[in-house]
Amino acid sequence: MANSSKKISIFLNFALVLSLLLIFNLAESKSLFDGGIFKPNSTLNCDNVVGVKSGDTCFEIAKNNKLTDTEFGAINPNLNCTALFVGQWLCINGSTN
Ligand SMILES: *[C@@H]1O[C@H](CO)[C@@H](O)[C@H](O)[C@H]1NC(C)=O
Ligand SMILES: *[C@@H]1O[C@H](CO)[C@@H](O)[C@H](O)[C@H]1NC(C)=O
Ligand SMILES: *[C@@H]1O[C@H](CO)[C@@H](O)[C@H](O)[C@H]1NC(C)=O
Repeated sequence: MANSSKKISIFLNFALVLSLLLIFNLAESKSLFDGGIFKPNSTLNCDNVVGVKSGDTCFEIAKNNKLTDTEFGAINPNLNCTALFVGQWLCINGSTN
């Protein structure tokens, strides 16, 4: 009996170490993606901007300028589309090189 409970506790320790390793690896790769070696080194060039008018939404502005959501997002990094304000400048034509 003592022997089998010892095996169980070794197994549990092993599982604990494995899951800690997994968590560590996830955290590590996240930081690599956020600010580490996988961070895209691109500069943003904005060629045209438009001022937000009352009632505008990101979707409308992107559509009016024939941009896909992805393109619009790429030239407007860090934009919070649920917090647009009138007079805010949005990039509607640019490139990320
Ligand atoms: C991005 O690339 C340019 C040109 O290759 C380089 O001069 C610049 O230092 C790089 N920037 C970063 C943050 O790596
Ligand atoms: C965007 O703005 C809304 C409203 O101010 C806020 O609740 C939300 O947390 C913001 N999201 C981000 C990602 O900043
Ligand atoms: C975006 O800018 C490029 C280069 O300045 C230009 O050739 C293109 O016509 C512009 N597109 C729009 C939709 O304004």
